[in-house]
Amino acid sequence: MAAERLPLPPDVEADLTAIVGGPHVVTDPAARAPHETDWTGRFAGTTPAVIRPGDADEVTAIVATCRRHGVAVVPQGGNTGLVAGATPLGGEVVVDLRRLAHVGAVDPVSGQITAGAGATLAAVQAAARAAGQRYAVDFAARDSATIGGTIATNAGGVHVVRWGATRQQCVGIDAVLGTGSRVTSMAGLTKDNTGYHLPSLLCGSEGTLGIVTAARLALVPTPAHRIAALVGFATVADAVGAVAALRAELDGLEAAELVLADGLALVGAAFGLPAPFARPWPAALLVEAAGPTDPTAALGAAVDAAPGAMEAIVAESAERRAALWRYREGHTLAINGLGPPHKLDVAVALGDLASFLTAVPAAVAAVAPGARTWLFGHAGDGNVHVNVTGVDPDDDAVDGAVLELVAELGGSISAEHGIGRAKRRWLHLTRSTEEIAAMVAIKRALDPDGILNPGTLLPAG
Ligand code: MLT
Ligand code: ZN
Repeated sequence: MAAERLPLPPDVEADLTAIVGGPHVVTDPAARAPHETDWTGRFAGTTPAVIRPGDADEVTAIVATCRRHGVAVVPQGGNTGLVAGATPLGGEVVVDLRRLAHVGAVDPVSGQITAGAGATLAAVQAAARAAGQRYAVDFAARDSATIGGTIATNAGGVHVVRWGATRQQCVGIDAVLGTGSRVTSMAGLTKDNTGYHLPSLLCGSEGTLGIVTAARLALVPTPAHRIAALVGFATVADAVGAVAALRAELDGLEAAELVLADGLALVGAAFGLPAPFARPWPAALLVEAAGPTDPTAALGAAVDAAPGAMEAIVAESAERRAALWRYREGHTLAINGLGPPHKLDVAVALGDLASFLTAVPAAVAAVAPGARTWLFGHAGDGNVHVNVTGVDPDDDAVDGAVLELVAELGGSISAEHGIGRAKRRWLHLTRSTEEIAAMVAIKRALDPDGILNPGTLLPAG
């Protein structure tokens, strides 16, 4: 539920205007509105003003000013997060970082690139591509999601099975802590064992410790060959069973994404796509492999050896690969078209994945009989996106039921989207009292007045 909007005190507005200039202190309700609701439309809040800094010095001054005045801050990039981690509760100023959009030249010696927090993921990918290299993080919201947001959430995406999440790519960071101090480690050292690694700490901190202003990112080589295949399976368990074999046998496995028959049908209807298979197989894997040599034969052999693999559509050209990916990437928008979903982004051990996929719809039905459960995700990482539609946005019984099931299996209640506002009350399910206490201690040290993203991640108080 949206909190009451509190006005920005005149002295605070004057100080912030002096830092960024009048046009970049946005108080007009219509201009503020897109910053006050999360991407799913499930969570909303209010902010008295959206502040649009133009560089890191301005971010530093904003944090110092807000700290002095006791005004809380919600950092925001493309606002494509799915757990309301960049949505104000009420009264916090939103700091929109998208003007920090610079993308540096690729350094061919280190194979790294520097990007501002506001650069989109797509802009960084394009810059890397233009230099014959590649930024390995990739997901459907690439045109809007910003580098700062991907770092704050340790974004995953479809290539984690091969390259890891954002934390594995982030070799340096420039950030303003909640203390107002600026920390910079942009030398791009791949080895630096001199104590706490602040880029790793800030990755996934969800804007609660500092505001990322820029990052140094490692690139990976562009493979000479790339192939994708959508493989239909006789059962969901067969599809999941094939993942372990693909991971073990296919050197160049870059993605192993799970979709189910109902999700494929929904995406097809939403985007006017033809049914991909001759028959609607219960489950399918979108498999991508790449490398210096052609992976077609190895992929074919792995699919042939997979029990229950019924039909495969193989795509070699970029256009045909993109056409296959639409069936997977279309899930988010197609599901949102049914109304604001409850989005749960969980992980279980690969060995538990098949039974989890069977148990989830039953767990949802037990607390919300009229709801629909949609399952898809990064099977290669044991990461399932459990989306539930047909439930009131404020009724979180289904969230609790699914997350408790995950906890019983020893999984994670957030594999890639983060905790945000949406899941903070369940953090204790998979993080111990001692772990949460350690996180709170870190928060107090780096943000002593608790001004950074106060509604997100950690328990209140
Ligand atoms: C995805 O894997 O498609 C993204 O995490 C978005 C989503 O979960 O809807
Ligand atoms: Zn995902």
